[in-house]
Amino acid sequence: MAKILGGITSSHIPAIGNAIERELFEDPYWKPFFDGYPRVHRWLEEQQPDVAVVIYNDHGLNFFLDKMPTFSIGAAPEYRNADEGWGIKPIPSFRGDPELSWHLIESLVADEFDVTSCQEMLVDHGFTVPMSLMWPDFSYSKVKVIPVCVNTVQHPLPTPARCYKFGQAIGRALESYARDSRVVILGTGGLSHQLDGERAGFINKEFDLMCMEKIVDRPQELTGYSIHDLVRLAGAQGAELIMWLAMRGALTGKVRQLHSNYHIPISNTASGLLLLENGTG
Ligand code: DHB
Ligand code: FE
Repeated sequence: MAKILGGITSSHIPAIGNAIERELFEDPYWKPFFDGYPRVHRWLEEQQPDVAVVIYNDHGLNFFLDKMPTFSIGAAPEYRNADEGWGIKPIPSFRGDPELSWHLIESLVADEFDVTSCQEMLVDHGFTVPMSLMWPDFSYSKVKVIPVCVNTVQHPLPTPARCYKFGQAIGRALESYARDSRVVILGTGGLSHQLDGERAGFINKEFDLMCMEKIVDRPQELTGYSIHDLVRLAGAQGAELIMWLAMRGALTGKVRQLHSNYHIPISNTASGLLLLENGTG
């Protein structure tokens, strides 16, 4: 059976990939953001996961406005970065785990989540930036990855409640896997941000901090929001919080917060980092 070690939330903005490439870790603008991550690196070093299930959103790379699956899962042996932001970076590709991907797809469909299965998939900043943040110096090749995409781009978006239940179904699917595998779940994106329109640059610190607190012990209290509530309270792209809720749903055990870091702004975005341990019992 797969063991769910814990979950991590992280921002995914493309400017972070650029800062990593330029090694701006000590730069005054970037330092308070990057300083959040060594605690997570140590935990990953201790835990030695075999697989990262990365819940993120595709930003128009695989799926465009004409065809937009609500939930989709990669089942490829390899995933290549094709993010156009700041120029395509020649970073190492990501190793897939088709066997676990197919187990997840079969289990989710049986559990009434009709996901789109993707035997080929390119990945963008929503995926590559969190992976590069978690495993420094692009050392992520030691873990296999399962990309899980949630539509946060083309309305109608799935509700927070639906995404939480989707995460719970991912947790059940992992626990019914016959092979031993140590799994970490990443929930990427957020927190409050709006990239365009009259409210471009909008950030709601109070709402962000409330979400970071509640998602640990009382995630159900965040599932009452509608997507329009999230857009109003957290900005149009702040709706990316639904991927955090999917991650949290997948933590089936006793959840304990090991670390957090909140920093504003990074680019136009409030960046939140949480490390949650999934304990037994
Ligand atoms: C930014 C944030 C995002 O979520 C994204 O996908 C692209 C850019 C930003 O704040 O720059
Ligand atoms: Fe985004």
